[in-house]
Amino acid sequence: MKNESLSKSNTFEKKYYVNGEWKTSEKVAELYSPYTKDIIAYIPQADRSEVEQVIDIAHETREEMGKLTAYERASILEHIAQLFHENRTKAAEIISLEASKPMKFALGEIDRTIETYKFAAEEAKRLTGEIIPMDAARNGANRFGYTIEEPLGVIGAITPFNFPQNLVAHKVGPAIAAGNTIVLKPASQTPLSALFLAELIDQTALPKGAFNVVTGSGRIVGDALVESDKVKMITFTGSPAVGIGIREKAGLKKVALELGSNSGLIIDRGVDLTQIVPKCVTGAFSNQGQVCISLQRTYVMDELFDDFIAQFVEATKKLVVGDPLDEKTDVSAMIHSAEQERALSWVQEAIENGAEVVTGGEIEDGVFLPTIITNVAAHSKVSCQEVFAPIVIVNRISSIEEGIDAVNDSNYGLQAGIFTNDIQTAFKASKKLHVGGVIINDVPTYRVDQMPYGGVKESGTGKEGLKYAIHEMTETKLVIWNQ
Ligand code: SIN
Repeated sequence: MKNESLSKSNTFEKKYYVNGEWKTSEKVAELYSPYTKDIIAYIPQADRSEVEQVIDIAHETREEMGKLTAYERASILEHIAQLFHENRTKAAEIISLEASKPMKFALGEIDRTIETYKFAAEEAKRLTGEIIPMDAARNGANRFGYTIEEPLGVIGAITPFNFPQNLVAHKVGPAIAAGNTIVLKPASQTPLSALFLAELIDQTALPKGAFNVVTGSGRIVGDALVESDKVKMITFTGSPAVGIGIREKAGLKKVALELGSNSGLIIDRGVDLTQIVPKCVTGAFSNQGQVCISLQRTYVMDELFDDFIAQFVEATKKLVVGDPLDEKTDVSAMIHSAEQERALSWVQEAIENGAEVVTGGEIEDGVFLPTIITNVAAHSKVSCQEVFAPIVIVNRISSIEEGIDAVNDSNYGLQAGIFTNDIQTAFKASKKLHVGGVIINDVPTYRVDQMPYGGVKESGTGKEGLKYAIHEMTETKLVIWNQ
């Protein structure tokens, strides 16, 4: 069922946000609903000189921003959280409309966004340096040393489509908490959430020019940010290819990269599948699998394999597929038709390599159906690359070591999970899994917003999670007093 009325009534020409003002560009692009394919907005496409003007504004505002006290920065962040609380449904509908995220998950994202800004507010008040024990060194007597965490200046934030509000919050929240100014370039498919954030921030006491949103292509807006000497840090979430390109062009500026993964899960013998299967369904299919820590590879001990498949398939078939704005919907369209076609071709390739599709594997009414594949060769793309689609593979293992080796056999390493009742197995897995986060007795998709989050290998560099991101967004200055 298509929600024509909502998508039509939201057709509008948007402006980008700089220095507290709304601006338009000569060039605009149509923005389509991924589900209905209707035009939902016209989005300005800033050119290089427009982006440079925005960077200049953010650069000029950094002193004013740097003068705010921790109390003032925390109050602004609390105010943003409050405004999201008051506009919860509207903010979720915007996500659902532009990203096809089913409403139940879009509402969940807004609840997390509120928490993220609240954590940022708390951390703003805890931004301390350290006292250095100077006299621990032979030449340190009679000296008193300490560090302070100073803001960097302008932060360039380049954000993805899959969590258009909460992954923006993970960059904007810590940047404000640390006293920086921001130029935000949202994903081309999800500018409306970022522009809605600008509407909310405009109502707060944040100095005008401290938060700016520029829309347009990654090549133009992203490159201008990455190449500008006035931008002191790029914080990026997206694909490894783009992330590596940013690092190559960024020169000496700081770069934090949250990139992809093909997250793995091990299921040990003796566990209660009735508890585990619902978590696997959510882990694999929420937001159509377009989550960096989506459950993509599952390795199940031989004894449980057949039962697991039967229960997993049964639960997956119960998912409601359709309109993202319908609150009953569990799975809707992926972000672009081309992405659905790409996912389909990867399933075909897996089949050619000997895999078996036990449910899904096709597009129905414009939606890629939740798909489970077994017996997948490790070199098939659905296994060794980031699938970013509602596809999960399930393979048999005959030992935990085999499962650990399979999970580690990847260019990525963001998070991994293991279900086990055996404490030694849990310890072994936490030690041997080569990832940024090991989740014991849950799926790799588990995340709360204050925890350190970031990967190894091609999954990126640097950590998000408010305390950790704030640290990345400051410069540690040392002060020594000679008494
Ligand atoms: C991501 O896709 O990296 C974010 C996952 C999350 O915040 O749950």
